[in-house]
Amino acid sequence: MVPKITTLSGYLHEYQKSVANPTGFWANIAETFYWHKKWDKILEWDFHNPKVEWFKGGKLNITENIFERNLFLRGEQKAIIWEPNDPNEAIREFTYNELFVEVQKFANVLKKHGVRKGDRVALYMPMIPELSIAMLACARIGAIHSIVFAGFSAKALAERIIDAEAKVVITADGGYRAHKVLRLKDVVDEALTQCPTISSNIVVKRTGGEVVWNEGVDYWWHDEMEGMEEVAPAEILDAEDPLFILYTSGSTGRPKGVLHTVGGYMIYTAYTFRNVFQYSSGDVFFCAADIGWITGHSYIVYGPLLEGAISVMFEGIPTYPDAGRYWDIIRKHEVNQFYTSPTAIRSLIAEGQEWVQDVNLPSLRVLGTVGEPINEEAWHWYHDHVGDNRCPIVDTWWQTETGGIMISAIAGVIPTKPAFASLPLPGIQPLIVDSEGNKLCGKGVQGNLCIKFPWPGMARSHWGDHKRYVESYFSQYKGLYFTGDGVKRDEDGYYRILGRMDDVINVSGHRLGTAEIENAINEHPLVSESAVVGFPHAIKGQGIYAYVVCTSIPKNAEEELKNSIKIGVSKMISPIARPDQIQFVNGLPKTRSGKIMRRILKKIAAKSTDYGDISTLTNPEIVEEIIEGNHKLIK
Ligand code: WTA
Repeated sequence: MVPKITTLSGYLHEYQKSVANPTGFWANIAETFYWHKKWDKILEWDFHNPKVEWFKGGKLNITENIFERNLFLRGEQKAIIWEPNDPNEAIREFTYNELFVEVQKFANVLKKHGVRKGDRVALYMPMIPELSIAMLACARIGAIHSIVFAGFSAKALAERIIDAEAKVVITADGGYRAHKVLRLKDVVDEALTQCPTISSNIVVKRTGGEVVWNEGVDYWWHDEMEGMEEVAPAEILDAEDPLFILYTSGSTGRPKGVLHTVGGYMIYTAYTFRNVFQYSSGDVFFCAADIGWITGHSYIVYGPLLEGAISVMFEGIPTYPDAGRYWDIIRKHEVNQFYTSPTAIRSLIAEGQEWVQDVNLPSLRVLGTVGEPINEEAWHWYHDHVGDNRCPIVDTWWQTETGGIMISAIAGVIPTKPAFASLPLPGIQPLIVDSEGNKLCGKGVQGNLCIKFPWPGMARSHWGDHKRYVESYFSQYKGLYFTGDGVKRDEDGYYRILGRMDDVINVSGHRLGTAEIENAINEHPLVSESAVVGFPHAIKGQGIYAYVVCTSIPKNAEEELKNSIKIGVSKMISPIARPDQIQFVNGLPKTRSGKIMRRILKKIAAKSTDYGDISTLTNPEIVEEIIEGNHKLIK
């Protein structure tokens, strides 16, 4: 197991060590894992001509570090406890031994379908144990998984399959989400009409709903698993071989396939999991994220299972069948560490005090949040009611690209402050710069958050597009990784994340590129142009505000048109990208070079009155008109 920091002085000591000698620091942690062959070099890096390699030449398989490494001590211990959407359905549990058998069997199924080391496998699945089994089976044979959140549209799924040139897709007939049944196989069928690289679609039977069956492509999971050989030797990989691709939104263009490699990601997720949450053997850890996002990858599956933890996986949502569902799950499974998002907390606050008034959750020791800034009200509610004033909150800042938690308190070790992610974890060297790239030293400064030294969990590239990786993170400030976030460091040296500085918006903790949403809106036949910005939203953190220029608006049909634009976005991307507000405008404020001045549009959507300098606009008169329209729209 990785070493655990247990005191504040221990943290300070480890942090110093990690900065003075980063390679020695991480090599010591890497030593605690199982390698077939030790690495040739700990670290090779360059942030000017970006390239990062950790433990190159080291040979391993991450699933051997989850299974073979843990079995001796805890083969009969639970690995995954699965809690279904409907609390009346039976829970499913897997010990490490049982999970290992399933993973190996499915690894053999993948091999039977021609999947080999380096091949890509797309997973479009509900939150059921088969999702974890499938991802680990990929890792077992060195295939690269690309998990697509099961709320994405057929078009979005197809784009991701095509970009990764996936060979096999894994899905389910359907999934449950509160009262709804999601028809996942239908979405996959539609996507596959555009995906010539897919030769097999393996389908888990979850809902038993009717599905269209495509002979020669579709295979039932249970048929394939039936009688399958229970042993699958691990493919031995290089530390720098890819583990997975996960698509995420950037400020421009299509979603990018963030690429993580085996060795560094393994070490980083295990280390951050054990330390931030102060996990001890036998604890029950519940991360309420979806595995379709990075949080689920790192803190439902890889981090916890590497550390031999008991990980709760939940299929449903916090308000089904009622707003006490999380607390019921925590009580039922005696959860010790609970990790969720500020949006979930705010949505539960909105459900009323009665759900937490007398909630008594004695098993809880640590609370965590992730994905977006947490406002003080939500922080206090979480701390006082859920945590009974005694559980520390770890507000964990990180990104799909960072692989694991970067800035966070260590539970019970680093004192917390509401709305502050607090201090960098060992090995993380943040740097704040102003817009010209000047270093802002000392305390009490505010600027753009960069990282100046590599850490093992960082993304290595974008799938098939290293140039875009370089442009996305390393082009803004020479020699630094730019996170895209604004940050403030206070008098105590604590970091407070202020949110994205680029054209990415964070809706309920989901990352969306404004360009993607605009492209979807512009597909509407009556739309000629649009500009999308985020605006403050009481529950979702940010809402989506779209300014839309139409070629014509049919008489008395404004609302209908708005609806059809919204439906279009849901279909092209996902319901999570659906605009909250649409304002029809006659034009967009533009600079002489034709660039849309989003700064002004953001201010209008946020109801701010300070628009800054508008004299450089070619059409300053449009601003007044847009403001008026906004007043009418939202009073
Ligand atoms: C935001 C999610 C404030 C941030 C793990 C980041 C946060 C983006 C926090 C990454 C936090 C994440 N406080 N903001 N604790 N955690 N963010 O890739 O803007 O889905 O850049 O990764 O979420 O989102 P992603």
